[in-house]
Amino acid sequence: MQYRHAIASVIVPGEGKTLRITRSELDRGLRGLLGAEVRFRAVAAGENSLVVGTPEHLDIVRQLQRQGKLQNLGGEGYLITTVMSGKNRFIVIAANRDVGLLYGAFHFLRTLQTHKPIDQLDIVSAPRIGYRLLDHWDNLDGSVERGYAGKSLWKWNELPGRIDNRYLDYARANASIGINGTVLNNVNANPLILKPAYLRKISALADVFRPYGIRVFLSVNFSSPIKARFEQEGNRKGGIGNLQTADPLDPKVRLWWKDKVKEIYRLIPDFGGFVVKASSEGMPGPQDYRRTHAQGANMLADALEPFHGVIMWRAFVYNADVDADRVKRAQLEFLPLDGMFRPNVFVQAKNGPLDFQPREPVQPLFGSMARTPMMLELQITQEYLGHSNHLVYLAPMWKEYFQFDLFSKGTGSTLAGVVDGSVRNSHMTGIAGVANTGNDRNWCGHFFAQANWYAFGRLAWDHSISADQIADEWIRMSLSNDSRTVTTVSSIMMGSWEACINYMTPLGLHHIMEVDVHYGPGPQHDKGREDWRSTYYHRADTIGLGFDRSSNGSNAVGQYLPPLRAIFDNLETCPEPYLLWFHHVRWDYQMRSGRTLWEELCQKYFSGTDYVRRMNEQWLSLDGTVDPQVFSSVRAKLKQQLIDAAVWRDTCLDYFQKFSKRPIPSRK
Ligand code: GCU
Repeated sequence: MQYRHAIASVIVPGEGKTLRITRSELDRGLRGLLGAEVRFRAVAAGENSLVVGTPEHLDIVRQLQRQGKLQNLGGEGYLITTVMSGKNRFIVIAANRDVGLLYGAFHFLRTLQTHKPIDQLDIVSAPRIGYRLLDHWDNLDGSVERGYAGKSLWKWNELPGRIDNRYLDYARANASIGINGTVLNNVNANPLILKPAYLRKISALADVFRPYGIRVFLSVNFSSPIKARFEQEGNRKGGIGNLQTADPLDPKVRLWWKDKVKEIYRLIPDFGGFVVKASSEGMPGPQDYRRTHAQGANMLADALEPFHGVIMWRAFVYNADVDADRVKRAQLEFLPLDGMFRPNVFVQAKNGPLDFQPREPVQPLFGSMARTPMMLELQITQEYLGHSNHLVYLAPMWKEYFQFDLFSKGTGSTLAGVVDGSVRNSHMTGIAGVANTGNDRNWCGHFFAQANWYAFGRLAWDHSISADQIADEWIRMSLSNDSRTVTTVSSIMMGSWEACINYMTPLGLHHIMEVDVHYGPGPQHDKGREDWRSTYYHRADTIGLGFDRSSNGSNAVGQYLPPLRAIFDNLETCPEPYLLWFHHVRWDYQMRSGRTLWEELCQKYFSGTDYVRRMNEQWLSLDGTVDPQVFSSVRAKLKQQLIDAAVWRDTCLDYFQKFSKRPIPSRK
């Protein structure tokens, strides 16, 4: 009733695609939320109205502009404010550019949908990070690497002729949380993506996404200019050109890329740039020609620079010749190159130094690369966290990383500050999330995995929002505003990540999952490449457990800046969540709880599983209060999660018991 009274009409003047979309989102959203037709008017008509516009179209917004209120909004920010006009009250959504209005409109709809008061609005919002991207690990054959939600959303065989409706919903969903770019294909890039036929398909997608403020980017294969076919040479090398080399210093190679980039921009004038996985996991790269990562990145950066495109050069490298400890390798390769990259190059690193494990310490490069814009790569798809079968709400994990202090410029140099540019006063800022979307009916496989897509976008926009708040918003918008439901679901979500760590890899354990699939436990795995073996990481023996990365061991702690280095180095000060990451710890070592390491390990594995049991009970208590289909699909997934958690617990404890030779307390 209050909302209807406050929004007797809606005024969104102006033309253009983004404005039309803004109108249609408001129409659709308000109609659904208010249960009434929405009256759009050209001008205010003596009633309470929602007024949406840039200074170009509205007097009232020009006034706000004169008062300096649009100054800090940039091109994407917005404000939502209440303005009295005689007896009438206007809710004004104002922005410098149309896309800001679209973001503001979604914010306003969220405010209504989560039942917040709207009588005195005073919201100012602008993104803290410039490039906010989804990285799709989608292959051209429709499969998705580490995708657990069906096939790729991109129907390459239908493009560019047919535009699937889902592309529009994809764009709407992303715009509603402020995502402004999409990398369409897998980092293990097939060079065919750069063929003219594919570029036309990509251009059609770019046309769909553009009015939603979303630009397209591509992953490219460093060998694209050479002749050999992709399928040959161990399948990752070889390209689409006719050159004999992809050496980044070869003038013919440089010209090949320049021409390719020109061809792309002729079709897609706002094309964003390239992601490159080079000299990593069999992918080709500058090192094939004894050139550095910087030389490789700069060659591509030079081709993109005239068009304002960027390079996201991945630091996910772990060449075994570099160091015996895999987690040290990225920094050893990249730190000597700090300052050598062109200004339009990001070095893009995963949050931790290994590989999206349930919990890792932060990647030290974020602290040490002082002169290179660092882009943060998070993984929304749950490669190591139960795929789309386990309910694991990831916002608390991402918050933990954001709050990690790297001490690069004294206390308070958090990862968030490095990524948003505030620590080093840099304007080239970016974050990417490896997408968890697919063509499943519910987009993400698990209903609750949608919350992670949502949370990624919200945090990319503003990393200071709490994980609780994001959960609260998402629950209210996706399930119910009923307070008991909100409290129950929030409690399920908020502890789910810690529970997953506990039933998979507590106390700093890592990389002990089943080989290749990365789903179930595999602590016994000890074959093949050394740094893919579980035994390489957990180092269980009769004395204790864990990888000694202290100054007496691999000295990975030395890659962190003081005082972090000393904190991690000392067994007594190392935070227990990272204990076995940094130390080989005796089975009888006394933990802060008073328990021995072995007892604590057992306790963690049991507490993780117990939490999942409670999640099941809590969910069952919601029968009849949430959508029945959602209820039953989540119930089935939670049952499976409990089975899996127990398998993780029992497999790991039975295995480690062979070394500890101590009883498992809860089974005594
Ligand atoms: C992990 C993942 C691979 C992926 C790689 C990457 O190793 O298992 O599938 O290609 O990360 O990020 O490049």
